Amino acid sequence: MPYEFYKVLHLLAILALFTSMGGLAMVAIRGGSDEEKKKARKPLMIIHGVSLIVIFVAGFGLMARLGMMGNGWPTWIFGKLGVWLVLGGASAMLKKPMGATWYLILPVLGAVGAALAVYKPG
Ligand code: HEM
Repeated sequence: MPYEFYKVLHLLAILALFTSMGGLAMVAIRGGSDEEKKKARKPLMIIHGVSLIVIFVAGFGLMARLGMMGNGWPTWIFGKLGVWLVLGGASAMLKKPMGATWYLILPVLGAVGAALAVYKPG
């Protein structure tokens, strides 16, 4: 697959990931029985999980197309893996209502992931 394909796929999955996290936040703050909440969370958890996998696969596809799969990855890739891990853990954190700051921290983390790819520090 070409570089452009992996790039659009990477971005699509990131958009879907953030949509799912918004949905999970909404389920956490609204009323309803545990059973109702569980039912509402299920499709969002699936979208979150699938998006994480696609971000990862497309990210490595991009690395391959950029000729970066040789020995020794640049430091910014490890930063991206860190962002990816934290965003992965967010689905568990979003089980309960989170403080308003988290609703800012999550998109800022996404921006850090983007900035790492744009500036490529190290
Ligand atoms: C498994 C983790 C990840 C890997 C291996 C990875 C890898 C990459 C690579 C190699 C590029 C292409 C850079 C270029 O075209 O020069 C890229 C682009 C990008 N990544 Fe990731 N990425 C990962 C996770 C993330 C996450 C979690 C986010 C944000 C939530 C993110 C946001 C972006 C954005 C916005 C671009 C496009 C930047 C541009 O076009 O200039 N990535 N990523």
